[in-house]
Amino acid sequence: MKMKDEIPGHEGEDEEMMDEIAAAPHKYAVVVGYALTSKKTKSFLQPKLERLARKKGILFIAIDESRPLSEQGPFDIVLHKLTGKKWQSILEDYRMKHPEVTVLDPPDAIEHLYSRQSMLQDVADLKMSDSYGKVCVPRQLVIEDDPSSIPAAVSNAQLRLPLVAKPLVAKSHELSLAYDKLSLQKLEPPLVLQEFINHGGVMFKVYIVGEAIKVVRRFSLPDVGRREASKSCGVFRFPRVSSAAASADDAEDLDPSVAELPPRPLLERLARELRRRLGLRLFNLDIIREHGTKDRYYVIDINYFPGYGKMPEYEHIFTDFLLSLVKHK
Ligand SMILES: Nc1ncnc2c1ncn2[C@@H]1O[C@H](COP(=O)(O)OP(=O)(O)OP(=O)(O)O)[C@@H](O)[C@H]1O
Ligand SMILES: [Mg+2]
Repeated sequence: MKMKDEIPGHEGEDEEMMDEIAAAPHKYAVVVGYALTSKKTKSFLQPKLERLARKKGILFIAIDESRPLSEQGPFDIVLHKLTGKKWQSILEDYRMKHPEVTVLDPPDAIEHLYSRQSMLQDVADLKMSDSYGKVCVPRQLVIEDDPSSIPAAVSNAQLRLPLVAKPLVAKSHELSLAYDKLSLQKLEPPLVLQEFINHGGVMFKVYIVGEAIKVVRRFSLPDVGRREASKSCGVFRFPRVSSAAASADDAEDLDPSVAELPPRPLLERLARELRRRLGLRLFNLDIIREHGTKDRYYVIDINYFPGYGKMPEYEHIFTDFLLSLVKHK
């Protein structure tokens, strides 16, 4: 089987591009340095993005983390999603010395999303409610240590079962559904315990790139009936739903009240507020609508620099966004 990268002509095309750049770097209006893991680079920097970017005068250059940033580029924009204190301080230092460069986004603002304790705080603070709907977060409890404290803590907080147990650190995706308090003691803190919200098995992924918003529909966990909730016990690991789940965009025979996308004005307002409060321009939200309600929404997850490769038309949206950043400078 031939991998995409091995398709004859593609490699040559890359070399050709590099020669072209070396000969005339001034042809590029925008130079974007990127520091992404190889997995992220592969999913984000697809040939269709690089091709369109090149046409629009945007050049992507990989940042070499082992060399001083100031000696590379010069960049107009730096895109990054690397973690670690060392990288964070390199970037902070670079941001101070090079205010002319747009760093997407500030490391401390990104870090805010790495804990499930702080991640949803801004959505809760927003208390958003208008004629288009109400946006909440599920009631949740943080368990730092001592799993034996869980049953009492869940009773005190009056959380309603079943609960979704999520590792406090957002980069771990070992999620479980717990039907009773005692079984939760089997889990390993630090954890967030979150009320499970029935949502008809469909969720919405809202991608944000600066001011642009795209929503896609995805299959999700099925509802848990009241009888089932009171009769069942135990904790059940569930697989990483969101990356495995099929798109529900083209699904037919879905109940329209479940499938209908959240109203555009509601999403626009939510995105605008969160952009400002989080201080981020590149993120996505997982939103569900409580089943049986028309307009009660819950944000359950926020990710920095999500898999934009799955966002329809991302190459157009992203390149337009990068150009707009430079234009506004
Ligand atoms: N409170 C909740 N109520 C109902 N379903 C939930 C809840 N929290 C999570 N889920 C379900 O579990 C899935 C994964 O949850 P979440 O997005 O928080 O985890 P994650 O590991 O950060 O996922 P990813 O990074 O892959 O999006 C959701 O897409 C949704 O299907
Ligand atoms: Mg998610």
